[in-house]
Amino acid sequence: MAKKKQEKLPRIGLLYLDYVLRFFDKSNFRGWPDKIETVTYHWKNDKNRFIREVKRKKIDILIGNIPATAYETFREIARALPHVQFIPSLDTQFSNKSKENVTRFAWKYDIPVPKTYIYYDKKKAEKFIETTKYPKIIKKSYGPSNYGGYFVHKVDSKKEAQKLLAKKKYHPVYVQDFVPMEADVRVMLIGHKPVCAFWRRPPEGEWLTNTSQGGSMDYQDVPKELLDLAVKVSKAANAEYWACDIAVGQDGKYRILECATAFAAFPYIRDWIGQYLMWKFSNGRFPKPNIPLYNWEELGKMDSSVLRTLRYITFGRYTPSYDGAYFLDSKKIATVEGEVDLNKLDEAYPMLLTEDRNYEEWPSEKWNFQDNYGKSIVEVKAKKNPEYGDDESAEEAEELPLLDEKKMSEVLTSVKGIGKKKSEKILKHFELVELIHALEKEPQKLLDISWLKEHILDSLVDEWSKFKNTL
Ligand SMILES: Nc1ncnc2c1ncn2[C@@H]1O[C@H](COP(=O)(O)OP(=O)(O)O)[C@@H](O)[C@H]1O
Ligand SMILES: [Mg+2]
Repeated sequence: MAKKKQEKLPRIGLLYLDYVLRFFDKSNFRGWPDKIETVTYHWKNDKNRFIREVKRKKIDILIGNIPATAYETFREIARALPHVQFIPSLDTQFSNKSKENVTRFAWKYDIPVPKTYIYYDKKKAEKFIETTKYPKIIKKSYGPSNYGGYFVHKVDSKKEAQKLLAKKKYHPVYVQDFVPMEADVRVMLIGHKPVCAFWRRPPEGEWLTNTSQGGSMDYQDVPKELLDLAVKVSKAANAEYWACDIAVGQDGKYRILECATAFAAFPYIRDWIGQYLMWKFSNGRFPKPNIPLYNWEELGKMDSSVLRTLRYITFGRYTPSYDGAYFLDSKKIATVEGEVDLNKLDEAYPMLLTEDRNYEEWPSEKWNFQDNYGKSIVEVKAKKNPEYGDDESAEEAEELPLLDEKKMSEVLTSVKGIGKKKSEKILKHFELVELIHALEKEPQKLLDISWLKEHILDSLVDEWSKFKNTL
């Protein structure tokens, strides 16, 4: 048989950062025939060198998780490398940066979360603390080592809240309604298919479900309906791989607590992600991994010390004629609609390709509230807490203050050499957010406008910073 001429594969690079635990290594991509490059980000002013290295190595696809504190830098890096596909995309990793971002993502896609209040303005935060009902949960939204419930606090009164905030100085002030819960479930997905899920239950009489705080975990009977929510969230994020923590409230409702591409996963799960990505990027040359739903109920019977060493787990395909050869054959799962055969259910959760997109869903000019607040100001039309029909529905997360085109044209026309006509032309050429971003970060970009000369640009930048200080 004549050997089919094989298509050239894209060049893969693994994205590493100094001091950051590596989620992938080459062994997760076993069988990939070409060299897999690595590129390491060294923090502190390493942006341009990093960009050069990616270009020099001719990388097409850069795979890896970006930690919260490098997120904004990597949004800039990704812009400077428009031909490199970041996996997961920076948009998918938006939720990795902060709890605020998780909340904004959930609000946009109508994903249920505990009711959340976010304040950058100290006065507004104080007023909220003064008037809201308790108990509440206060969290640190953003920070280098944000895990394990360490920066999550329950406050039972106004006094406690004030004391805590005076001590912790969290910015923004991020507050949630306290949701009494039975447990939460961590679900991991690959290509929107759940591949692992387990319960985390709080210790007796405690409210924190984190196992690092002494709670317990188990893999049995995760409700199908809860998996459905996890799939919805993964799809909304367009995530190649994804983990959600879903709270199961005492009211029976499911709510997302956390979701991200960065999570702790057994090595065999990272192998599956590698296989999925090889399938995605090889145009069918590598097979799609076959990972049956609820496999975790079986694998979870093993001790975690075994699970930590298992590699390259594969499952046989389901063949109805081959009696009893496959665990999906005999297994039944309880759902709200009654018992279903697992082999039927498995088909309802296909492993899907993510979309390749060529636009930014969460551009930093608009969504990096943390750095923009009080500096570049734009109107952000964002969804907030949906109506819950309770008496606090009037309280809303605040928005950045408004800067409209009218204000901007005042700034523009205050520059000698820019009249009303020219100011209109500038605002036609650039969207308001773009213009602000350019003034803040790369004024040179404005020289795209042919008649705008260097000296005019200089005074414009001056006027802009003067204007900012008046805010
Ligand atoms: N709104 C809430 N109501 C009740 N418990 C909560 C709430 N938010 C978080 N928790 C509890 O605190 C734990 C840690 O919160 P989480 O938001 O996951 O932060 P971390 O980044 O520290 O894991 C959760 O696993 C859950 O048990
Ligand atoms: Mg958590």
